Amino acid sequence: MLLDSVVRRMSVSLLLLSGAAGPACGAPPATTDALQVLHWWTSVSERRAVDVLAHQAAAAGIEWKDGAIPGGAGLGAGKVLRSRVLAGDAPEVTQIIGLSIGEWAELGLLLEIDDVAAAANWSRSLFPTVDKLIRYRDHVVAAPLGIHRVNTLFYNRRLFDRFKLQAPRSWAEFERTAEVFRNAGVAALAQSSEPWQVAALFENLVLATGGPAFHRALFVERSAAAIGDPRLLTALQRLRRVKRWIAAPADERPWPAVVTQLAQGDAAMLVMGDWAKGELNAAGHVTERDFGCAAMPDTGPYHLYSVDTLSMFAKDYAHRPAQEALARRVMTPAAQSEYNAVKGSVSVRRDADPARMDACARASWTTFAAGDAVQVPSLVHRMATDEASKDAIVAEVHRYYIDDAVTPEAARERLAALFRALRVSATPVHH
Ligand code: BGC
Repeated sequence: MLLDSVVRRMSVSLLLLSGAAGPACGAPPATTDALQVLHWWTSVSERRAVDVLAHQAAAAGIEWKDGAIPGGAGLGAGKVLRSRVLAGDAPEVTQIIGLSIGEWAELGLLLEIDDVAAAANWSRSLFPTVDKLIRYRDHVVAAPLGIHRVNTLFYNRRLFDRFKLQAPRSWAEFERTAEVFRNAGVAALAQSSEPWQVAALFENLVLATGGPAFHRALFVERSAAAIGDPRLLTALQRLRRVKRWIAAPADERPWPAVVTQLAQGDAAMLVMGDWAKGELNAAGHVTERDFGCAAMPDTGPYHLYSVDTLSMFAKDYAHRPAQEALARRVMTPAAQSEYNAVKGSVSVRRDADPARMDACARASWTTFAAGDAVQVPSLVHRMATDEASKDAIVAEVHRYYIDDAVTPEAARERLAALFRALRVSATPVHH
């Protein structure tokens, strides 16, 4: 880890020295500063995506001091961020996403980058949903990077060809396909039992069973009606059902290991955000040739999203010019297309050119572009609710997944109790 970040720092400095990443025409960069960046991008493709950003920073005269904290979906990074801020040692830049941006902004700690956003007319360039995400009380407090699609089904082409199968589009086809593999002794589904990965599969099943309005009613509004809805029971039953297609359902593996399982043909399908595409590509597997990318069955028209963003800590404003320059830089069309092609996500810009994307990215971008009605904020990736509620729901879903003795009805009861408790704790106290 340490060595890794030292090497990265060196390589960025070397680039600066050699002038390789300097601005065109030999003009001096506008600012010279070093920014610490805390984030959770540690897999091979994620590190490459970070390198793209570090090069972009270098071109603006900024040294990117890398602070990568391992842990898929940012569980470790969130904890490190909290303790660093409490210790008075906030990084200058941090990856925080979704509703956690507002949680930090509410404390008055984030730098407002309204001038950057206004000068480059971000409101006009951004998808409205992204524009909303980066604002807190009408101030822009985050720079957007890319949009991930969480309802993506990856499948191993070689295995699908061998069994003459097509990507399943509905739950019935999914079951049929999975059973073909199971009967042949092939694990149909690659899946880790890490809590966030289990919950991600579950929210896919919720979306597949009930559609966007139901997913929102459950995870954004946490309505009593949604908890009582038979579709929740169906989603829970399906989460139990898919266990039989997984080789070692209790195995807790980081997500890149699960991607490798799919790539090597040790499993036929994988439900995962499209950062998995970045990882497959980084390992030399070509989209559509070696692996297929489709929507999770029964969610074809929908986009379950996670939007990546960088926020800046205001501190004493000493780094403000560099922080603003970085924010400005990552939103440029060139940085957007270079970064997202490596990361597996798609541009946050409405004026991006889908013709230049691979089929997987094109489907994601054009689906997202269809607007609010098809866009679904991911629970696991903090787009739907606050951190504490998200953690509690993820833990409950995981408990049910792990323990076959808990019936779907009992799991639903536990979720109902949890939702009631969350509702009480969210009620403002009047004096
Ligand atoms: C982030 C992605 C990241 C993934 C796996 C998600 O929350 O949006 O950028 O690759 O977690 O850690």
